[in-house]
Amino acid sequence: MNVHKVITIDGPSASGKSILSVSLSKYLKWFVLDSGVLYRIIAFLFLKHKCNFSQEHYIYILDKLENYFIYQDGYINCLTYRDIKHVDLMSHQVTSVSSKLATIAYIRNVLLFKQRLFLRKPGLIASGRDMGTVVFPNAILKFFLQSTLITRVHRRMCDFNNLGINISFNDLYNTMKKRDYRDINRKYSALKPANNAIIINSDNMTFFELLNYVISYVNKFI
Ligand code: DC
Repeated sequence: MNVHKVITIDGPSASGKSILSVSLSKYLKWFVLDSGVLYRIIAFLFLKHKCNFSQEHYIYILDKLENYFIYQDGYINCLTYRDIKHVDLMSHQVTSVSSKLATIAYIRNVLLFKQRLFLRKPGLIASGRDMGTVVFPNAILKFFLQSTLITRVHRRMCDFNNLGINISFNDLYNTMKKRDYRDINRKYSALKPANNAIIINSDNMTFFELLNYVISYVNKFI
């Protein structure tokens, strides 16, 4: 594995990883990988093809994965995915199935190699749950974002309002609580900070404070 020039940003859902990764990638002019999107595309295909939780169907959807994303301007996000709308990837069903599929060792192992292929020069910002612990253990800099569930639910409500997705605060709160539990307690690649991660609690930070804080570290190390 190539060991240089990866910065990882891990954390629970709606902790601000994606927006931080994209902003940092623009600042450094590096590639960006939002690994959660890969799990979401797999879940989308799983539902589209009416799959069941069997090895045969995992192979089937993982084979199709590559057809669904394209590289664009060195910047990879949901908007660059063929045939799939961002709003579809964010749906309640896709979110719930992606969290279940993410507990399956076979799927994680296949994705492990696919995710490493995103590493290219001049560098990669990789965000997810296990970027610093499993996928890129030799990253030069690792961040782990934390914030309370209630703050994250408020943030996700705003995202959903912008996308026109209707969900009650309580339903979202309970769904995210369940997902947190699954992410933290799963057997493979559970959500946790890498030993050498810089842990940031962003509850009382504006996004720009968070970005500046991260950039101040990046400037010391890169
Ligand atoms: O970050 P997200 O909410 O878009 O992620 C969707 C699901 O994928 C989430 O329930 C956990 C899973 N996931 C994971 O297990 N490992 C990653 N590196 C990224 C996401």
